[in-house]
Amino acid sequence: MKKIIVANWKMNPQSLNEAKKIFNGIKKAIGKTSKVETVVCPPFVYLSSLHIAGYGLRFGAQDVFYGKENERTGEISVEMLKNLDVKYIITGHSERRAMGETDEIINQKNKIILESGLKAVFCLGEKERDLEGNYLRLIKAQIEGGLKGIPKKFFKNLFFAYEPVWAIGKRAKGIDTSGSVFQTSIYIRKIFLSLVDRKTAENIPILYGGSINEKNAPDFLKNGGVQGLLIGRASLDPQKFRKIFLAANSSR
Ligand code: PGA
Repeated sequence: MKKIIVANWKMNPQSLNEAKKIFNGIKKAIGKTSKVETVVCPPFVYLSSLHIAGYGLRFGAQDVFYGKENERTGEISVEMLKNLDVKYIITGHSERRAMGETDEIINQKNKIILESGLKAVFCLGEKERDLEGNYLRLIKAQIEGGLKGIPKKFFKNLFFAYEPVWAIGKRAKGIDTSGSVFQTSIYIRKIFLSLVDRKTAENIPILYGGSINEKNAPDFLKNGGVQGLLIGRASLDPQKFRKIFLAANSSR
C-alpha cells in the first residue's frame, strides 16, 4: 500500500506570502513525482493561491460544512473544495471536537465527503489513557458514531487517523510509542471489521498523528502498523517535512 503523509497546517501561517514560502519549500522537497501520497491541508483562504500542478502533491482541506443548503454564513461546501482540486478532507480532529463538534456532526461530514467522491481523513483519539481501557471504548464509539448509516461502498475513500489528544500540539504531554500505536491500529481495524467485510477492514489505511517530527517518523512508519502520518507543527517547516517524506518514501 502506498504510504500517505498529510500536512495539517491548522491556523498557520498568518499571511499568504508566508504560506507561499512554505508551500514552495514543500514542493521542492517532494519533487515532481512521488511514491508517497503527499497531501497538504492549508487554511481555506490560501487554497486558490497555491498551485500543485506538475508536482507530486494533493490538496486537502481541514474542514467542510456538513450540509448542502447554501444559506450558511461563513461555511465552506464540498463542491467549493472540489472545484479547487481538493481531494482529501480532515474530519473529527480533536481541536474541532473540543469546540463542540459531536460524533453526529462528524458523521454528517464523513457522509457528504464520501458521497461526493472525496476522501475523508477521519481522526480518532482519546483525551486520556486510562489503565482500565476506557479509552478503547471511546475510540469504538467514535468509529461507530462517525460512520453510522454510511453505505459500505463509500469506505474505499476512507482513511483513519489515530491521534491521541494528549500527544498533539504545543501542549502535548508526551508522544505515543510505535508499539502502542501498533496495538491501537489492530484494535481500530477490529472495530471497523464489525462494520465491513474482511478485505475492506484489512485494507483501510490508518495514519498516526501527534508530535510527529523528522526524528520519530521512521520509527512510527516502520513499527507503528500504520500506512501514514498526519503532521501538524513539523509540516510548517519544509526541511523537517522533507525528512519525514524521505522516511515514508523509503519505508515499505
Ligand atoms: P502536531 O499536530 O504534529 O503538531 O502534534 C498533529 C495534528 O493535530 O494533526
